[in-house]
Amino acid sequence: MGGFNFGLPEALTKTATDIDGLFGMIFWITLVVFVLVEALLAIFLIRYRRKQPDKQGYAIHGSTKAEVIWTLIPALILVFIGVWSSGMVYTIQTPPADVYEIKVTGMKWSWEFEYPNGAKTYGELHIPNDRNVMFKITSKDVIHSFWVPEFRIKQDAVPGRVTSFYVNVGDLAKAGSEYKERIICAEYCGNNHSKMLANLYIDDGKQFDSWVETEKTRKKTDGPSVIQANGCTSCHTIDGSKSAGPTWKGLAGNDRKLANGQTVKADDEYLKESITNPNAKIAEGFQPGMMPAFQLDDESLKNVVEYIKGLK
Ligand code: CUA
Repeated sequence: MGGFNFGLPEALTKTATDIDGLFGMIFWITLVVFVLVEALLAIFLIRYRRKQPDKQGYAIHGSTKAEVIWTLIPALILVFIGVWSSGMVYTIQTPPADVYEIKVTGMKWSWEFEYPNGAKTYGELHIPNDRNVMFKITSKDVIHSFWVPEFRIKQDAVPGRVTSFYVNVGDLAKAGSEYKERIICAEYCGNNHSKMLANLYIDDGKQFDSWVETEKTRKKTDGPSVIQANGCTSCHTIDGSKSAGPTWKGLAGNDRKLANGQTVKADDEYLKESITNPNAKIAEGFQPGMMPAFQLDDESLKNVVEYIKGLK
C-alpha cells in the first residue's frame, strides 16, 4: 500500500501489510457499491417522482435478466473476497520450517515471555528482526488474547491449550524500535484487563542473541518481575478487589487495622515486615498462617515496596 493507510498503526510484518491490502480492497469495493446505490437512489427519486397528482406509475413484475445480474455480480464479488481471504488465512496459519519459538503466557494481569534458552521476561518482549518468530501462547488462569496491533493479529490465550502465530519483521521494522504498551490483552479478563499491557522491542539478530543470553543470568530484581516470580498476585489484588490476601491498592502510607484491634501505619517498614514475616501483623479480616515468609534480597524487597507504594 502507498501512503494512505486509513490511519492504521504501522505495519511491522509482510503479513500485516497484506492484511492491510485486503482491508483496503474490501473498503474500496464497499465504498463503490455504497456510492453507486445512494446515487441511483437519489437519481430515481428525482427522475421518477410523481409529476401529476393523479398519475400512477407502471407496475413491473419480474425480470429474469435483472435478477440474474443483481445476484451474479454480488456473488462474484463475495467469491473474490472469499478466495483472497482464505489464501491469507492459509498463509498466516502455515508457519515456515525454521522458527524461533517464544512462549507467551497470559495471567491476571500480565504477560510472561519465555525464550528458548530459559530466559523469562515480564511486561516486555524482545524479538529479533532476522528470523521467523513463532509465538506459542497459553494462559495460567482465564482466557486472555495476545494482540499487537502492529502485527494485525490477535490470538486467544487459553488455559490448557497452546495457540500460536508467527511473525517476521524482516526489514519493515527498524532494529532498536520500541513499541511501548503495544502488546495488549484483547479479551476481557477481569478488573485490570485494560492494564494488561507490555512493551515490544525489535532487536537486530546479534543484539538479540546477546540480550537473551544476559537476560538468562540477570537477576530480576525489579518490582513486577519479583511479584510475578513469587506469585504474589494470586492472593493480592492491585485494584482494591477482595482476594485471599489484602489488596495492595491504597495500602501504603495509610492506617491499617489489625486483627488484634490495633492500628498501625502502613509505612515502608510495615510493608517489608509483611513480606518477610507476614504473621507478625495480621490485617483485620484475615487469618494468620496464610502467607509464607518470603526471603528476598534487599534490592528486590525495596522494589516490591516501591511498586506497592505506586498503587494509590
Ligand atoms: Cu487479559 Cu484481558
